[in-house]
Amino acid sequence: ADQNYDYDVLVIGSGPGGYVAAIRAGQLGMKTACVESRETLGGTCLNVGCIPSKALLHGSELFEEAAGGTLAKFGVNTGKVSLDLDTMMGEKSTAVKELTGGIEMLFKKNKVTWLKGRGSFVDAHTVKVGDDTVTAKNIVIATGSSVTPLPGVEIDNDKGIVVDSTGALKLPKVPDHMVVIGGGVIGLELGSVWRRLGAKVTVVEFLDQLLPGMDGEVRKEAAKLFKKQGMELKLSTKVTGVEVKGKKATLSLEPAEGGDAETLDADCVLVAIGRKPNTDGLGLDAIGLETNQRGQIEIDEDFSTKIDGVWAVGDVVPGPMLAHKAEDEGIAVAENIAGMTGIVNHAIIPSVVYTMPEIAGVGLTKEAAEEAGYNVKTGKFLMVANSRAKTNRDTDGFVKIIADKDTDRVLGAWIISSLAGTMIAEIALAMEFGTTSEDIAYTCHAHPTHSEAIKEAAMAVQGKPIHM
Ligand code: FAD
Ligand code: NAI
Repeated sequence: ADQNYDYDVLVIGSGPGGYVAAIRAGQLGMKTACVESRETLGGTCLNVGCIPSKALLHGSELFEEAAGGTLAKFGVNTGKVSLDLDTMMGEKSTAVKELTGGIEMLFKKNKVTWLKGRGSFVDAHTVKVGDDTVTAKNIVIATGSSVTPLPGVEIDNDKGIVVDSTGALKLPKVPDHMVVIGGGVIGLELGSVWRRLGAKVTVVEFLDQLLPGMDGEVRKEAAKLFKKQGMELKLSTKVTGVEVKGKKATLSLEPAEGGDAETLDADCVLVAIGRKPNTDGLGLDAIGLETNQRGQIEIDEDFSTKIDGVWAVGDVVPGPMLAHKAEDEGIAVAENIAGMTGIVNHAIIPSVVYTMPEIAGVGLTKEAAEEAGYNVKTGKFLMVANSRAKTNRDTDGFVKIIADKDTDRVLGAWIISSLAGTMIAEIALAMEFGTTSEDIAYTCHAHPTHSEAIKEAAMAVQGKPIHM
């Protein structure tokens, strides 16, 4: 270690960006510490994000399969199905505890010191943590993001009436009517959880479609499927106010374009209109680092900020707010600090909505490819024509591959299927290797698997699939 500093690398924040950066820095032989103010390591993702939400998505899916007759259809008779919400929440908490504890163990193994408390800059090489100050040659900002508030709407996760995602992960009982503000990823995942467990769920979305940023055809199909599942969708609608009286909330709604107002009663309102970077109280002023219009810290390709020795990764920098993006940036920044060449290909970051079916994509949407000036050709294969999906009675969705008509290079892919989140990895990998749709079409895929739909969609780009 450099004798002039306490640490070679000090990471602020222990989410997927920060903890991964810290572990990688430790692995590369640098003296490393990570500042985290939460009681446990792992950031948003492990504590109140990816992990607890997936635990509830899994639990609620099992409940719906049992209560909704899917098990019975296959001759698995359970008798009367009932919900024990406390047990489901218990499983969620156990998963969170095991995984956050796992990070603590990995820190020990890689000699990363956890400095407990809030960190703020004193200067570009000094951070105050509680009453202490520590110095480091390199400081990585990985402070993540938090919920974007809706002006005039007060969130109270303990009361459980108007909540954000953190509150929606620990409701004490199934609401009768949950209104979700925001038809994005959080709204659809957590809305699905509570709908499966018995709530009536209404999603209010400002835009004319759900899931902004995804492929147009996927957005339309998703809306159709969520409606089929019983979710009520109010698109092109804005919420102008939420009033809480006793245990009920009343929302005021208006068409996005203006028009007649209406009200909607709910016993739970989930605010899920996006997240914003965490930089408050971080002392960026002290080092002369400004944020951009969206509150993000701008970085170069190597994750360095314009202040020497200060780096940043994860939700606090531009790009999709995703755990795997943050993790890859964490690895790359540590490697760059160590003098290696850490790179993240931001053009190929998969995104997955973990509903049933899952919705996943990587690369460009058809709309974005056309806008970028590509001569686009697409191939689509319906899951209803995939033998395994058919056998499993799991036929919702499709695979859509977008390729460059001139070179056949794959520009993106979009999948709706129960296994879309796992399937998309194949395309991400293939795209990293510069795949053409022909490469995929002539790659042998195991039968019977959902992944065969990827091969067939690639064949559809080529000309014709076999099974459709
Ligand atoms: P974070 O995980 O937000 O971690 C930042 C950490 O820094 C926090 O622990 C915070 O306490 C700490 N911190 C902040 N400021 C300071 C300070 N000054 N001093 C000390 N500590 C500080 N992404 C996916 O890819 N897949 C999913 O399935 C998924 N599901 C999600 C579900 C929900 C409900 C939510 C809310 C998010 C989900 N995300 C998911 C997004 C994912 O959680 C984030 O993209 C990811 O956590 C970002 O990692 P990060 O390291 O940048 O920041
Ligand atoms: P989001 O950006 O996905 O969706 C927010 C939605 O709210 C958008 O559709 C937007 O048009 C709408 N909206 C904005 N203001 C509105 C208003 N006033 N009234 C009605 N609708 C409004 O944000 P979300 O769902 O809060 O998630 C935050 C982030 O967390 C996402 O960017 C995502 O990257 C991450 N996340 C990822 C998950 C995953 O990877 N599976 C799961 C959950 C979250």
